[in-house]
Amino acid sequence: MQPWCVGISTLLLSALLPWPGTGQFHVIGPGAPVIALIGKEAVLPCHLSPVMDAEDMDVSWYRSHPTGQVHHYSTSQDLIEHQRHEYRGRTEFLKENITKGQVALRIHPILPSDAGEYRCFFASSTFYNEAQFKILVTGSGTAPQIYIEPGYTGEMKLTCTSTGWYPEPEVQWRDVRGQRLTSASETKTAAENGLFHVETSITVDTRSRDGSCTIRNPVLREEKEAQFSLSDAVFPRLWPWIVGFAVPLCLLAAGTTFSVLFVCTKRRKRLIKKQYGKLFWI
Ligand SMILES: *[C@@H]1O[C@H](CO)[C@@H](O)[C@H](O)[C@H]1NC(C)=O
Repeated sequence: MQPWCVGISTLLLSALLPWPGTGQFHVIGPGAPVIALIGKEAVLPCHLSPVMDAEDMDVSWYRSHPTGQVHHYSTSQDLIEHQRHEYRGRTEFLKENITKGQVALRIHPILPSDAGEYRCFFASSTFYNEAQFKILVTGSGTAPQIYIEPGYTGEMKLTCTSTGWYPEPEVQWRDVRGQRLTSASETKTAAENGLFHVETSITVDTRSRDGSCTIRNPVLREEKEAQFSLSDAVFPRLWPWIVGFAVPLCLLAAGTTFSVLFVCTKRRKRLIKKQYGKLFWI
């Protein structure tokens, strides 16, 4: 947000909410859900309105479902003995501007389990207030890969795989004109780290030769695509079939011909021998 924007929203808030009495304050958190990328850092800013020194206040971040403390700052130091264990070593309290009532919590690296509802809580000796906000966690996975297997009746089975997505991505097959193709199967499984692995397959006949498989991150609206072109794939695939089937067939045919010839020649020789043998003896 632009500073003038913050200024205006603070003014509006001050006008809308009853002006706090002496020593009272509002806590203002991130205005919109914080989009946090897996493996990267997220900064969760919170500030006081009106501007006041928070150096001597208790400042905490909590989360709901599972409920617990994410970070706690009190008596000018980080007190993290009640911190939920999954945040150990991942939080840093940014207090550069604490005398102006502005603080932030840095979480690094972000895990899929960090998604959810959070609160930042300020308490002075006489008053307390908090602000709620949401963290949306997201991550885009690997570029999809397409595997091609020939079917029994001339169609091709295409399988598209990709891994490392959060949340569950959207999967689409499209033909060369961008029309949606219906997939034969689609599975999305969460790995131990919470990230999704996608596997989808489709059966196409050789008329629809070109197209693509697209995996889309619904939070970032980011897509990754793999294209297929069967004209390249079909022919190299036909060669092993030809070698494996046609060559033995030719050999068999040649063998049969040879045997037939051999038998025939032998019989003819015997016949000739029989006839001429008689002739010679006469
Ligand atoms: C502190 O305030 C300055 C000036 O407004 C700003 O540039 C800086 O990013 C702030 N620091 C933190 C940690 O918020």
